[in-house]
Amino acid sequence: MKRIDIGLVGYGVVGNGVARILEEKKELLSKKSGVEINLKKVFTRNWNKSFPYPLPESKKAYSLDEILQDDDISIVVELTGGIDFPYKLISEAVEKGKHVVTANKALLAERGKEIFLKAEQKDIRIGYEAAVAGGIPIIRALREGLIANDIIKIYGILNGTTNYILTSMYKQGKDFKTALREAQELGYAEADPTLDINGTDAAHKITILASLSYGGFLDFSQVYVEGIESIHPLDIELGKDLGYVLKLLAIAKGHNGEVEVRVHPTFIPEDNPLAKVDGVFNAVMVEGDAVGESMFYGKGAGSLPTASAVISDIVDISKSIAEGVGRGIEITSMNWEHKDLTLT
Ligand code: HSE
Repeated sequence: MKRIDIGLVGYGVVGNGVARILEEKKELLSKKSGVEINLKKVFTRNWNKSFPYPLPESKKAYSLDEILQDDDISIVVELTGGIDFPYKLISEAVEKGKHVVTANKALLAERGKEIFLKAEQKDIRIGYEAAVAGGIPIIRALREGLIANDIIKIYGILNGTTNYILTSMYKQGKDFKTALREAQELGYAEADPTLDINGTDAAHKITILASLSYGGFLDFSQVYVEGIESIHPLDIELGKDLGYVLKLLAIAKGHNGEVEVRVHPTFIPEDNPLAKVDGVFNAVMVEGDAVGESMFYGKGAGSLPTASAVISDIVDISKSIAEGVGRGIEITSMNWEHKDLTLT
């Protein structure tokens, strides 16, 4: 059985989940995929703290070069935050001919064009299932399962932290700050929770879904984004009295190369399926011309749900390396029109 060596950069909530699943399910994953997936080295800036899934010394890398310069490592898994550092890391990995798996939606939404074009030139695969909607395999659904469809619209709840906050305020009358603190303690929030609260995180995710659905790159700075910072408990209470639930919706709608992408709080009738999506759960509604409306539902954040998505990419890429297959369709399909899309 062919062995594929993996280097992981970033050992936070998701990184720990990835290592746990890769180690604890090593045999099962080999049986299911026909490839031995070996987590060879993990880099984090500070090994001097305690981790939910501690690693043996042999797996710890103390410099990025231990991963980037290791010719045996064929996949680099990037699970850091921010944009500049991961951009540099992924660029270097691509230069070195290493495939990449990332959960970094900010990077892909804001600088995806550069990353994907670089990768395409080098015949490198970029897996990003974990970047949108945590454990829900929505990237695969759009890329493969729904490939026969023109996507009419795609919309839903794409941020677990804000959904957790809005649900706690609606159901338990909790105040905003307490609910946010709980979401942070549960490992749902971004390192900087402002990105959750002000809608940026959901906007990153819907931008990626819009690119994938409509086949071109979008200028993220032009996306309309409104968060939940100024939602008052009274707004939620009044909506409730009238039979509505407040949700932070992310929406993309495309037609003839023009795409509308928006994120804003929206009142939803309480009998609509999206109104029943509670807590950390995400839901994505996709309307395709052939399939009609489909709803995808699952945990949108957290260690193991997100790790589940990261590992789906690791396995997918490992299998194609082992089988000697080319890079597959996911890179070109993000920009299959080979153009920039116009935001309306
Ligand atoms: N902070 C994000 C959320 C994590 O709350 O949904 C998953 O992308």
